[in-house]
Amino acid sequence: MDIYVINGPNLEMLQHREKNLYGGESLEEIQKYCAEEEPSDTYNFKWLQSSSESKLIEFIHQAVLSNAAGIIINPAAYGHTSVALLDALLCFEGFVIEVHLSNVHKRELFRQTRLTAKRADALIEGLGKESYRLAVNAMIKHLEKKREQ
Ligand code: DQA
Repeated sequence: MDIYVINGPNLEMLQHREKNLYGGESLEEIQKYCAEEEPSDTYNFKWLQSSSESKLIEFIHQAVLSNAAGIIINPAAYGHTSVALLDALLCFEGFVIEVHLSNVHKRELFRQTRLTAKRADALIEGLGKESYRLAVNAMIKHLEKKREQ
């Protein structure tokens, strides 16, 4: 079962971004940290990143067309602006968890518009790299439960 972990703009630069907000670790380090939770036999976590909106839309289309089981997405700044990303996510029928490293609710007014979150089944934010790890965990638990039904 494929689970897409899609990362938006500037997340490839995390180690250079505000440490107090994002923790100072790179996306690769966060991916490695999460891999400790990922049982490789049943679930195939596909980590992807792009700063290009169209690439991110393509990643979501791939998830739709390949019938992926779930999407974990940190849309980064596009989460506040991109109707196109929301529309792409609306094509997807599986479970969607949106993650943010920082607690967006505590931040600037312009970040309070949450477009992609309208399609998220769950939202985890404000816990740094734990937001991702919890999302991986929650996704596995959700899919396991579904398999048992
Ligand atoms: C972010 C929050 C966004 O507002 C911001 O544009 C980011 C990172 C986060 O993970 O906290 O790039 O998505």
